[in-house]
Amino acid sequence: MLSLNVMEEELIGIKNAALSFILEAEDLKTLEEVKLQFLGRSGKLTQAIKEITKISAEKRKEVGMLANEVKNTIENAIKQSEINLKHKNEKIIRQKIDVSNPGIKPPLGHLHLVTQAIEEISGIFEKIGYSRVRYPEVEWDWYAFTALNFPENHPARDDWETFFIKEKPHPEKGQMLLTPHTSSGQIREMQRKKPPIKMLNIAKCYRRQSDVSHTPMFHQFEGLVVGENISIVNLKGTLDYFVKSYFGEKRISRIRPYHFQFTEPSFEVDVTCGVCLGKGCKLCKAGWLELGGAGMVHPNVLKATGIDPKKHTGFAFGWGVERVLMMKDGIEIDDLRLLYSNKLEFLEQF
Ligand code: FA5
Repeated sequence: MLSLNVMEEELIGIKNAALSFILEAEDLKTLEEVKLQFLGRSGKLTQAIKEITKISAEKRKEVGMLANEVKNTIENAIKQSEINLKHKNEKIIRQKIDVSNPGIKPPLGHLHLVTQAIEEISGIFEKIGYSRVRYPEVEWDWYAFTALNFPENHPARDDWETFFIKEKPHPEKGQMLLTPHTSSGQIREMQRKKPPIKMLNIAKCYRRQSDVSHTPMFHQFEGLVVGENISIVNLKGTLDYFVKSYFGEKRISRIRPYHFQFTEPSFEVDVTCGVCLGKGCKLCKAGWLELGGAGMVHPNVLKATGIDPKKHTGFAFGWGVERVLMMKDGIEIDDLRLLYSNKLEFLEQF
């Protein structure tokens, strides 16, 4: 006669062994082998069940119930493992990479139009010896206005034009502000360096303006050349060089008298329209488009930075990056604000 305890221990041992083999089976074939090993005709559990007859009649029912429970547990574990392994196989088949298939092209972005324009403009001026500089966007009034010969009551200093920062004013340099133009960089460069100077300052500028041709934040590029015998001829030659390099050989520039506080004489620079090439069309003013300001550096500005106007002269120009971009052939932007709308449908066109 077999004792109840020995039989129970054997059944529990079989259950534990089967469960650990089932857990370790990594494929359906191994699982089938485990199934045969425990539940097959000569499997361990089947054999153990046959032994139950050797137990006394009154204990047999109890052991029979335990044997059933062990059998059910093993069968359920096998079924669950079968489902898991089939699912794993399907996933592997689905994920199989066919190396002969054409690859999936990841979407490729590009630099923002304004960044592209800044790089192109910098490259054009670097070729003729200009050094790229960058001066603060948060400036003192002295650099943005006073040293540039602006009178105290000039409208550009008004709250309606310029963003002033509510900070204690500097005792000598006045109010803190967001620079409204890159001309403040002229002053910083002339203080930093003695002539000869040939700088290109490209920076963000801020004004309280917003319409189809104005944004509150925009970029300007400012050229400054100071040295001996620098004249309007040098300025005009530089303008022609830029216009041909950036807009193309067919485009030409002209200068018209204008007024800026910090240049004398001052000019407005125009470029021939890219559509009609100077003949006149609905896009331009009689064949010309306005590019921006320029002029010979005012003697007061040279003096403010310690440069002797009797010895040195200079010219400067300052134009909007977004505006020159809009005037380039093949770029059709009818609202400058679109450049900063972050709309991919717009940016992806270029
Ligand atoms: C100036 O800012 C002068 N500092 C330019 C200058 C430099 C003159 C050196 C002489 C010597 P103006 O305010 O016209 O000038 O601006 C120059 C250019 O900046 C404009 O022609 C335009 O292209 C661009 N601009 C001005 N305001 C905005 C704006 N809100 N949004 C976009 N572009 C602007």
